[in-house]
Amino acid sequence: MELNGTAAIVSGSASGLGEATARELAAAGSQVVVADLNEQQGKAVADSIGGVFARTDVADEQSVQAAVDVAASLGAPLRVIVNCAGIGWAARTVGRDGTPHDLAAYRKVIDVNLIGTFNLMRIGAAAVAKTEPADADGQRGVIINTASVAGLEGQTGQVAYSASKGGIIGMTVPAARDLAAIGMRVNTICPGIIDTPIYGAGPAADEFKAKLIAPVVFPKRMGTAAEFAHLVRALIENDYMNADVIRFDGGIRFQPK
Ligand SMILES: NC(=O)c1ccc[n+]([C@@H]2O[C@H](COP(=O)([O-])OP(=O)(O)OC[C@H]3O[C@@H](n4cnc5c(N)ncnc54)[C@H](O)[C@@H]3O)[C@@H](O)[C@H]2O)c1
Repeated sequence: MELNGTAAIVSGSASGLGEATARELAAAGSQVVVADLNEQQGKAVADSIGGVFARTDVADEQSVQAAVDVAASLGAPLRVIVNCAGIGWAARTVGRDGTPHDLAAYRKVIDVNLIGTFNLMRIGAAAVAKTEPADADGQRGVIINTASVAGLEGQTGQVAYSASKGGIIGMTVPAARDLAAIGMRVNTICPGIIDTPIYGAGPAADEFKAKLIAPVVFPKRMGTAAEFAHLVRALIENDYMNADVIRFDGGIRFQPK
């Protein structure tokens, strides 16, 4: 899929992986809608890449519909949907003090990470379906979702987060089959440990991050958001990549603690 001259919508693009993706797509000639809850940072990112900010809660139907309407009205055909919005949550099924996992917190993580991803997929794809095919294959667009290696092998103390990401992985093949009828591809990236503001800042965060990289095989460091964005772009530009779940993790495998 040629990115130049397209419109794209990237959720969670006020920060981290989404921000780097928005920058990469804009550099490739795409008009990007920065769809995020964070208005201040989202506007700043949009302004710096010549894009448009749309305040969006991915878990909310009307909010996502409004953001997709903006993306579909930019003039260039909407061809790219990237789901990067997400939240973390660290709690065990039963805590060390014997307390069961908070159910509202579990629901919230599923709502934002899993349902939010599906929400933008379904509303975005319906808008892409209205465009003319872009090439001889009849291709109209591409969806890239962001899961996590936690969704493949689980992460200790993150049962809600792992379940939400496992759900995104599970949607990949059926969504790709459903959307083939309208000439769309769907791929899901499973990042390992990537250096973004999700881990916080300061000495305590640095100490935590140093521990996280211990099981990384090579290169022995966190991944960068730019490396993630580079993969998103490659998956969009390579027309034969479809219905795939791709690890992006320096060879890391999470161990039980
Ligand atoms: N950084 C990592 O190591 C890592 C690893 C695996 C997976 N991931 C996943 O990658 C994605 C991006 O993470 P990041 O590290 O860039 O985090 P980040 O916190 O830097 O960025 C996440 C963005 O999502 C936005 N967001 C949160 N809830 C939202 C909602 N309901 N609607 C719209 N926007 C919302 C936030 O405002 C923020 O701008 C997440 O889904 C995360 O789970 C990250």
